[in-house]
Order: sequence, then structure tokens, then C-alpha cells
Amino acid sequence: MSTEQQSGQQTAEKVAPATGKLGVMVVGLGAVATTMIAGVEAVRRGLAKPIGSLTQMGTIRLGKRTDSKSPLIKDFVPLADLNDVVFTGWDIFEDNVYESAAHAAVLDKETLLKLKPYLEKIKPLTAVFDQYYVKRLHGTHVKKGKNKRDLADQVRADIQAFRKTVDRVVVIWAGSTEIFLEPSAVHQSIEAFEKGLETNDPGIAPSQIYAYAALSEGVPFANGAPNLTVDIPAMVELSKRNAAPICGKDFKTGQTFMKTVLAPAFKARMLGVSGWFSTNILGNRDGEVLDEPQSFKTKEESKLGSLEYIFQPELYPDLYNHIYHKIRINYYPPRGDEKEAWDNIDIFGWLGYPMQLKVNFLCRDSILAAPIALDLVLFLDLAKRTPDLRSIGIQEWLSFYLKSPQTAAGLYPEHDLFIQSMKLKNTLRHIMGQDLITHLGLDYYD
Ligand SMILES: NC(=O)c1ccc[n+]([C@@H]2O[C@H](COP(=O)([O-])OP(=O)(O)OC[C@H]3O[C@@H](n4cnc5c(N)ncnc54)[C@H](O)[C@@H]3O)[C@@H](O)[C@H]2O)c1
Repeated sequence: MSTEQQSGQQTAEKVAPATGKLGVMVVGLGAVATTMIAGVEAVRRGLAKPIGSLTQMGTIRLGKRTDSKSPLIKDFVPLADLNDVVFTGWDIFEDNVYESAAHAAVLDKETLLKLKPYLEKIKPLTAVFDQYYVKRLHGTHVKKGKNKRDLADQVRADIQAFRKTVDRVVVIWAGSTEIFLEPSAVHQSIEAFEKGLETNDPGIAPSQIYAYAALSEGVPFANGAPNLTVDIPAMVELSKRNAAPICGKDFKTGQTFMKTVLAPAFKARMLGVSGWFSTNILGNRDGEVLDEPQSFKTKEESKLGSLEYIFQPELYPDLYNHIYHKIRINYYPPRGDEKEAWDNIDIFGWLGYPMQLKVNFLCRDSILAAPIALDLVLFLDLAKRTPDLRSIGIQEWLSFYLKSPQTAAGLYPEHDLFIQSMKLKNTLRHIMGQDLITHLGLDYYD
């Protein structure tokens, strides 16, 4: 074995093949969801390439650099084929996926028209919704129930009905950002949570009702928003008990994606940072929801975490102890989904001399988020079929895609994109019984 490699688990039990149909149930058929669904169909028809998707375009190096062995990830691990993916979902509005995609105006009309016959067939199921948790929305297409337990049972019935038509199911939240909730007593165990469902505990948000339903059905659940959702002991317990994998929260798309690339670079070179001011303008429905202070607070918390963890000020007080980190998000309708983000970064170098870096990212929110949502779904399905992963609960190796990685209790999260990328790829090597890659590489010089 090369010194650049570490032995993979030779005894790894085999990953089950991805036979049959994968049913994807999306909570919230808005901009991100419809861009993912329309995109997958466009790729299936050969109209476009799945750019931005690691599962579809990425490769993975196996063995030594001199082995020249880098298969596509989708040829290396048994992922569901895009042709086997079937979509459905829930929304608080009745619009079908074509109408919702047209409203979101992310993809051009011409592309949407080509896909219309397929997209308009996907109609949302009635949602679990309560305006207390998303103040800016007034849902009309919603379930009625005598308490939160009854609503959870209705979502379970939706999942059971859909499961009869496919072979496996994954649920992903691409719904709106809910108000900021902190973990409370009701979140501490499955029993407390189930009691809270009966008594309509206000600590249980709609996103948690979907998550509870999915995990109770043994179905993996991903969270694209910064909501508390599965980031509580009750859900971790349920995830492990029912072999239903979960991961962190909040798609890491634009500004935070850049932060988790730049911050590790400053730290690697021991450059100090005194301030990081991040501002955004966006005009889609997500922007409108985030304009409301309580939903903004949820997003702000999620966006703030990365720098603190990457810089480790407790280890480098001279460099990172006094960072002024500020995040603003402003709703600006003319921009629609074409968000603009500015970052002003005040750094300092040798002998404390100050410098500045400006980043102006003119991005498209849902174009960046759609491939992430797709990859999370495909990888969670893989985790469910993998003996080593299915019952461990949190899939930390998927932190790569998320602004707020979730970890085992007491473990600090890894935010550095390149550590996350290495962790993801080594996890894939590990489950396939391949040697891990450490990048030591001394044996090339023997
Ligand atoms: N686009 C990005 O780059 C990005 C990045 C990170 C996180 N996110 C998050 O992803 C989520 C989706 O973003 P979007 O741009 O698609 O927003 P969107 O407003 O276009 O779509 C959200 C959809 O969820 C629906 N919804 C809200 N509450 C629901 C409920 N309880 N049940 C069912 N449906 C519900 C809304 O009606 C809407 O159709 C947001 O929370 C956003 O913060 C997006």
C-alpha cells in the first residue's frame, strides 16, 4: 500500500444496488425545487448538462496518482440513475410544477415550454402549514387536523401512498425559512416530541412534522433551509432507530460557499482578519420571507457560524479574536432570483499591515441550489442502502453541501469546503472498500 493511501475497510459490507425507481418527495415546490425538477428532466432529454452536480459530473481518484484511475462518481458508487427518479411534493399553493416554475422565473420560458407536459403533471399534495412559523406567507392548500400528531399521520399516509408507486423514497425540505426556534424540552427525546405532537407544542414547527413523518417511515430526510428541523436529539434518535439518514441544514450556495473557500485560505497562510461585512440583495419569494425579522434571524444564525469555526480564534487569538462579522439580506424585487452579494473583507498581514478584499458575486440562487438538492437526495438514498451508514443517523460527510453541518454531540463542525470535499470522497472510497487518500505521497520519491 502506498504511503499516500490508508487502507479502506476491506470487510465493508456491500452497498445494495440502486434497483428500481427512487421517489423524491420535495416539501415546498418553489424556486429551488422546480429548478431541480425541470433541470433533471432537461438533462434526461439531453437538452442540457447537469452542471454543478458532483454526483453527475464529478470524478473520484482511486489508488496512486500514477495509476491514472479516476472514474465518474456515479460509475464508482451505485447511485440512482436520473431516469429512475420520480418527483412529487407538497406546497401551500395549488400551482403545479410548471406554473410554479413560471412564477419563479429562474428558467427561461422557452425551456419551460419544452418541459411543460411533464412539469404540469406534478401537482402538490396539501401541505402542513401554520403562518405563525412563516409570517409572510398565506397558505391556502393546507391540511386540517385535530392536532400536530394528526397532521404527522396525514404526511405519513402521503409517503406510504407514494411508496407504493416507487421502490425507495427520500424527502427533502425546499420550503421557506421558518422563524428562529431554539431547542427546548419537547425536542430532547422521541417520547417528549410525540407528546408535544399530541398537545400541539409551539416548539414543533411544520418542517419538524414532515421530518418526523419521514423518519418514522424509515425515509431519509434532507433540509435545504436553516430551520431547526432535525437538529435536535429526538430526530437524531429517530433517524438512528429507523435507519433513516439525516444531514445538516441550509444549502451552501453563494456567499457562504465563497466564505468557506476564502476563510481557510487566509487561515492556511496565517493572515489575520479584522472584519467581514456581507450583504445581499434578492427579489424572489425567499427574499420576501427573509425580509421578515424572525425568519431572517434563522438564516443569520446559519450564515454566521462558518467563520467562527474555520478561524478557531481560541487557537489563533492574534489573528481572529476581534473579527467584526456582519450579514445583511435585503429584499429587492427587481432582481428576482438573480441575487447579488457583496463581501468586504478587512485582512492584515506581516507586522499587522492592513489590506482589503472585495467579492462581488452576481449569482443565480436556484441555479446554484438545484444541483445541491439533487446530490443530497441521491447521496442520502445511497446512505440508506449502505450498511456502514444507514443506522448512524447524521451523515457528516454531506456537510460539503450545507451552511450548517450537523455533527455528533460535542463535535465541532467542519466548514472548510476542501476538508468537506475530502471527507465526502473518502467516505465513498471507504464504503466501496477502496484505500483512502491521505495526500502524503512520500513513496513517489523512494
Ligand atoms: N436558493 C438558494 O440558493 C438557497 C440557499 C440556501 C437555502 N435556501 C433555502 O431553500 C428554501 C427554498 O428556497 P426557494 O428560493 O425555493 O424559496 P421559494 O419561496 O421559491 O419556495 C419555497 C416554497 O415552499 C413553500 N412552503 C412554505 N412553507 C411550506 C410548508 N410548510 N409546506 C409545504 N410548502 C411550503 C412555499 O409556498 C414555496 O412555494 C428556502 O428556505 C431558502 O432559504 C435556498
